[in-house]
Amino acid sequence: MIQSDALVLFGATGDLASKKIYPALQAMILRGELDMPVIGMARAGWTLDTLREHVKDSLAHHGIVDAQAFAKLSAQLRYVDGDYREPSTYDRLKQALQGATHPLHYLAIPPSMFAAVVQGLAASGCAEDARVVVEKPFGRNLASAQALDQTLHAVFPESAVFRIDHYLGKEAVQNLLYFRFANAFLEPIWNREHVDSVQITMAENFGVEGRGSFYEEVGLVRDVVQNHMLQVIALLAMDAPVGHDVESMRAEKLRLFRAMRPLDPAQAVRGQFRGYRDEPGVAAGSRVETFAAVCLHIDTWRWAGVPFYIRAGKCLPITATEVIVNLKRPPLSVFDDAQPAPCNYFRFRLSPEVVISIGTQVKRIGEGMHGEPAELVARHEPRSEKLPYERLLGDAIRGDTSLFTRDDCVEAAWRVVDPILDGTTLDETIPDPTNARADAPPDEYAPGSWGPAAAARLMADNAGWHDPLPERTAPC
Ligand code: BG6
Repeated sequence: MIQSDALVLFGATGDLASKKIYPALQAMILRGELDMPVIGMARAGWTLDTLREHVKDSLAHHGIVDAQAFAKLSAQLRYVDGDYREPSTYDRLKQALQGATHPLHYLAIPPSMFAAVVQGLAASGCAEDARVVVEKPFGRNLASAQALDQTLHAVFPESAVFRIDHYLGKEAVQNLLYFRFANAFLEPIWNREHVDSVQITMAENFGVEGRGSFYEEVGLVRDVVQNHMLQVIALLAMDAPVGHDVESMRAEKLRLFRAMRPLDPAQAVRGQFRGYRDEPGVAAGSRVETFAAVCLHIDTWRWAGVPFYIRAGKCLPITATEVIVNLKRPPLSVFDDAQPAPCNYFRFRLSPEVVISIGTQVKRIGEGMHGEPAELVARHEPRSEKLPYERLLGDAIRGDTSLFTRDDCVEAAWRVVDPILDGTTLDETIPDPTNARADAPPDEYAPGSWGPAAAARLMADNAGWHDPLPERTAPC
């Protein structure tokens, strides 16, 4: 596969670039994996020196500044200032590319700007033999994702489109698939006969952190449920791919996405943390959700009747993402003690620590046959693994699409969340599905709580929501 020979970063002054992309670029330089011009694009009235200072500040805030690597990155940086709707911006980009023939264009910008940039790239010739990385959320709903796919495909073939979801670049998320299919003991019980319910909590103990206007445009369901959470479920629930190639894997994932039943607004709770409306960039009467809890059903022979609960939110008590797969109880009670629910489960802690554990009951020492919970724990000691963005950017530069999402999978995921999206649209030409419940204001919740009370009522499972704990105090 042909390597890209320049990286063009749209949204160079943005939050994502600061937090994730610049640290990834420095890490790539440290490994000797980024030897090409890096062209920052923005409309900020900046100069190249301002960008260099900004990159240095970003590294200091969201990682470390490695003097040598930063000096190298700094030397590779170029900057083009301009309006993404102006053809002259792309003329200047062309000059900055200095003869690079296979640029990788990274659109780290709001979805509402994608079409203008793609058209600008095409009209200027900067899209020729190029690849494009598109940040999530890809569109605002199914209809806009389809429209966006059309816009992209008019310029880039699908093989040149890299829809990024950084969760897929996480070791712990890739390990879900590995753990399932590299171990023979799991497959016989990984189905409706043995699994009672599945739940995923993605909790963050911070708010929108200066991203108020982004959140107003997006909201939590589009930000993390349509992509990160559904991708995790796909890896947990899909069948084994037939073959080793990228397309076989994508085919199985697609089958799973298509089997997900569109979410029922009656089984969905939207919340907004108290104080969100005071954030800069947030409307006084905003109805945007910062919390969601939903119950998802997967209509396959493997999963029929097994509820998959998803809960994600800002300003919750802890920052942690955990999956719990609850197994069914033993058929009869042999011992007198009341068995807690659930007795057996798999726990996958995806972040910040990486842990896989199996929840069991063991006999408590002493007279009588009484039990207590014990977890069999495999804990991953972080070594020098790549950051998710580092991994994914390297893959995109090499043209490896394995960890990127194909058009049909993204569209299938939108079909699942569409019924619970709010009915607002930024582009009046694109229809947004609306329904009375999704248009209702989200329930307010106190920062530091586990979201609105209605989330607890949604969980019909008698095990209730499992609230992730700080890892050291988790039961062992
Ligand atoms: C991003 C979301 O995709 O993922 C953020 O836009 C969220 O709102 C972030 O905070 C969480 O990712 P991570 O890897 O930092 O846990």
